[in-house]
Amino acid sequence: MKNKIIVAEPMSTAFNFLEDIRQRGYEPVILESYIPKGYARRLMDEERKIKYSRIKYQITIIKEDPDYAVTLRKVRALDPLLVLVGGEEGVIIATRLANDLGLTGNSFANIPKMTQKSVMHQALKEAGLRYIQGKEVSSWEDCLSFLEETGKEDIVLKHVHGVASVGVHLVHGKKELLDAFRQEKEAENMFGEAENRLLLQERIFGDEYIVNTISRNGVPALTSVFRYYKKRTDSGSIIYRGLETVTKFDCRETELVEYAFRTVKALGITDGPVHGEYMIDEEGPVLIEANCRVMGGSAPAGFLDKVFGYHETDIVLDCMLNCDFHKDFLQKPYHPLRKGYVKDFYSDKDKTISSSGIIPILLNMRSFYSGWVENAGKAAGICKTVDLETETGCVYLVHDNDETTKRDFDLLMLIEEKYPNLLHSNASLFLPPDDSSELTPQIADILNSDTETLIYDIISFYKNGSIGEPIVPEKLLEANPYNRKIMDLLKSISGE
Ligand SMILES: Nc1ncnc2c1ncn2[C@@H]1O[C@H](COP(=O)(O)OP(=O)(O)O)[C@@H](O)[C@H]1O
Ligand SMILES: [Mg+2]
Repeated sequence: MKNKIIVAEPMSTAFNFLEDIRQRGYEPVILESYIPKGYARRLMDEERKIKYSRIKYQITIIKEDPDYAVTLRKVRALDPLLVLVGGEEGVIIATRLANDLGLTGNSFANIPKMTQKSVMHQALKEAGLRYIQGKEVSSWEDCLSFLEETGKEDIVLKHVHGVASVGVHLVHGKKELLDAFRQEKEAENMFGEAENRLLLQERIFGDEYIVNTISRNGVPALTSVFRYYKKRTDSGSIIYRGLETVTKFDCRETELVEYAFRTVKALGITDGPVHGEYMIDEEGPVLIEANCRVMGGSAPAGFLDKVFGYHETDIVLDCMLNCDFHKDFLQKPYHPLRKGYVKDFYSDKDKTISSSGIIPILLNMRSFYSGWVENAGKAAGICKTVDLETETGCVYLVHDNDETTKRDFDLLMLIEEKYPNLLHSNASLFLPPDDSSELTPQIADILNSDTETLIYDIISFYKNGSIGEPIVPEKLLEANPYNRKIMDLLKSISGE
């Protein structure tokens, strides 16, 4: 009996496939996609190293050869049951191999619609669905003619095949567009494609969503819906601030899911997952881009299980193995168990840090599940965030009480935006009193304390019932409203 299941580039959340495959009694095999040397390759090599170190069993790893015939031969020799798409870098190779071996998957002829943003929107147009006006550009003259044809000033410049918002610019007017165009003309494509194709689009202003689906025999089933929180930086980059699961749909979201199903079909997806990014504005939903793979973000399976009762790769695998499973899944109403949040962190500039209060803050949040953050224990500084690859942390929040999870998420959003020194800083947690005569030895001591330790002590004080002498003297809190606010925030983190 065939028992090998190949996953092309099982990185990010697709890493969870490996364990799912084993749990079902099959043998996972990793196929590393061929990525030419460069920035994307360096990022991938780093991620592979981290992910592989977590594999505690013998696993076969094969490498995609630039010569497709060689790869096909290697894969055919393994006689796999399935060749699954892992991360974005696995879409093309896995689809092609599955086709050539007669295995379940999407048609390889569909690859342009599945990977090229210009073709995706053309497919929507042809299907009579709402699409985004766009044009592939190779010269500045092309850019100017797009501006003229559309009369638009708010424009997006991006790569035809991109990932993680790398090289995406939201610009206003000719000058900003020219700067972005010059920069990207020289830049390296994330997939190392020889021909670095660029796309201009009209900019949509709306709320951003994710709709994840799994299709079999041309029918999509809903696996999850998230709402995005993103931010445009002053220089026009897009950075992630967080994600919230949508558990009950309002009428706009119901319309979104229906549009997403039609989009998946218009893109010719018959058998496989789609991680679709959409926006909703006054005119309703519109596709930003479809990624024909599971959602990224490296969410731990245990976190997703707590939120949804499943973790996407398990459902995708079961559906790909058995279309009856998909039929049953389609019948079940969409009903997540708990609200889940992903909090992404950013830094608005390069900064040196000597202390990271973010550690005790997260560890004391009741909804904190797991995650990672840059911190002073690891490095003396953090870099300015310009895309998903340069974020400064990503943590997962879930709790039996949805209100608790939402409160923690809102608090983190507020602190990050208004009081970033609580998270990382090079200065004291509180501001000194204006009048230096109020600088008692006790106050001086607090001002010289390490932020991380101080935050830990303050939260512990409140958690233990505020017994004894307050850690921070009232005089320092009275010194200015900022200090009082910091104290109130720490008090609310402690659950008081
Ligand atoms: N036409 C657009 N209008 C408004 N925002 C956009 C548009 N295109 C992209 N964006 C924003 O930029 C982000 C990254 O663009 P996307 O096409 O998804 O690139 P990537 O493949 O790198 O994820 C989107 O998630 C969205 O926030
Ligand atoms: Mg995207």
